[in-house]
This record gives sequence, structure tokens and C-alpha cells, in this order.
Amino acid sequence: MIGFLGDLQGNQGTDWELLGGFTAFAVIEIFIGIILSKKMPGKKFKKAFGWFVLIMGFYIIVKEIFIQQEEVITMEKNQAEEYCVVTSDVELGETFWNNQYNANTTSWDLGQVSPPIKDYVDQLTNKDLRILIPGCGNSYEADYLLQKGFTNITLIDIAPTLVRQLQQKFINNLNIKIIQTDFFTHDGEYDLILEQTFFCAINPLQRKDYVVKMKAILATNGKLVGVLFDKEFEQQGPPFGGCQWQYTPLFENDFNLKTFEPCHNSFAKRQGTELFINLVKK
Ligand SMILES: C[S@@+](CC[C@H](N)C(=O)[O-])C[C@H]1O[C@@H](n2cnc3c(N)ncnc32)[C@H](O)[C@@H]1O
Repeated sequence: MIGFLGDLQGNQGTDWELLGGFTAFAVIEIFIGIILSKKMPGKKFKKAFGWFVLIMGFYIIVKEIFIQQEEVITMEKNQAEEYCVVTSDVELGETFWNNQYNANTTSWDLGQVSPPIKDYVDQLTNKDLRILIPGCGNSYEADYLLQKGFTNITLIDIAPTLVRQLQQKFINNLNIKIIQTDFFTHDGEYDLILEQTFFCAINPLQRKDYVVKMKAILATNGKLVGVLFDKEFEQQGPPFGGCQWQYTPLFENDFNLKTFEPCHNSFAKRQGTELFINLVKK
């Protein structure tokens, strides 16, 4: 009654459906009560009613604590997914990327191997792993792999200017293959693919294609390892950001998410803004 009067005073309007349902339920309960009180002795009836109230109270408490908590989590997840949705109206092809290298607008370039990838590489023992670095850029990771004795490295980038520079840099090195192509058209088979600011460089609409392609070119038990941004960017990308709740649904059907967590050893300027991933092909 108090709630109903509150509705009348406030500006939320009255939920007539709820009110009608509640009133009908109360009337039915009165009739059931009358029938039962005629059939059951008063003492027994009071006891049964007491149990009924107790069980209902217990059910409501459990529902409020557990079921509503689940609803809050789902709501937060949906909000986060909405928050993370990003799109691009820029054509991110060969010309776009080549222009960046020609104009030297490569602010993503760390100038050194990405520390989380370095630490990951340090614990690898099989130097003959077939390793791919897509969207490799200046690829300090490749320098590091060579320094560590790895023998089967493939670099892919779409930008011809950059690829020419890399071909010069690694000339006559038989342990490294450099391909100028669109990653999405590439075929091959790899044991390990290293992700370093490539995922964030593609149009977000291609993210599912990225996952499908990664799976297709990884060997059985092959791994996709590296870092993904764990932040949104104010300006339109690239880079395009996101968060774990957005990424995991993309990957979880095709990969076992061995590690998917905040990165603890990021490059100084990226501290707290990266996720480290170690995803094993299913
Ligand atoms: C943000 S940069 C990162 C470069 C490098 N991984 C780094 O961290 O310094 C993205 C790179 O991906 C390349 N790229 C973008 N789209 C590509 C595609 N579809 N196929 C291959 N390379 C691509 C660009 O040319 C660029 O070198």
C-alpha cells in the first residue's frame, strides 16, 4: 500500500500489470486459506503456514544473494562489451600502412623487443619452432629470436617500404623469411605466432577473421602468444583498443585460453594497459 502511494506521488507511473497480478494472487491465496482452514485443524494449519513463510523467506534471501549477483555480473559484462565496441571507417590497406612508414609516423614502434615477448622467448627450448610474426613492423622480436638461435622465423607485413628495409636488414640470413602480403591471404603452418600490436592495427570488424586465420595457420597444439591492449583509445584507431570481456568470446571457441591476464612486465609506457595471452589452438 505504501509502495503504491509512493508511485502515485512520484513520477515513475504505476505498474498496473504488477499491481493487478499481485492483487489476483492475494485474492486466490485468501480463498485457498479459507478452504484449507476448513479442512485442517487450526493448530496444524498455523504450523504449516509458519513453515511456508519460513521456506519462502529462505528462498527470497538465496535468490537475492546469488541469482541477482549473477544478473549484475551479466549486466556489467554487457555494458563493458558495449563500451569496448569500436569501428573504423578508414581503409586500412597497403597504402595506409605504407604511408605511415614513408612519413615515419610509426609511434607504435618500441625501438626494442617487447619485454613480455622477450621473457616468453627466453623460456623456449626448441630453437626450430616455426615462428610467425604477422604485422611485424620493425620486428625487434625477430632480432631477439635470431640472437637466441631460433632457426625458422617468418615475418609478414603489408607495407612494401618496410618490407624492403627488412629484406635489406636480414639479407643472406637463412633463418628468416620476409613476406610482403596481407596476413589474411597468407597460407602456411606455424608452431608459434607472436602478437605485438598487430591485432590492434586491423579493422575491428576483422577480429573474427583474425582468430579464424590464426587457427588455420597454426599446427596442432600451436600457440598464439603476445600482448593485446587492455584499454580504449580516445581517437579513432588504429590502434583499436578493447578489453578482456570483448576479446575472450572471440577466441574461446577456437583456442584454449592458457593465459589471458593483465600483463605484469609490459614496456614501461604501456604498463597497466596490456593483457598477456598464451592461446593454444583447440
Ligand atoms: C601498429 S603496427 C605494429 C608493428 C610491429 N608489430 C610493432 O609492434 O612495432 C601494425 C603493423 O601491421 C602491418 N599490417 C597492418 N595490416 C596488415 C595486414 N592485413 N597484413 C599484414 N600486415 C599488416 C602494418 O603495416 C604495420 O607494420
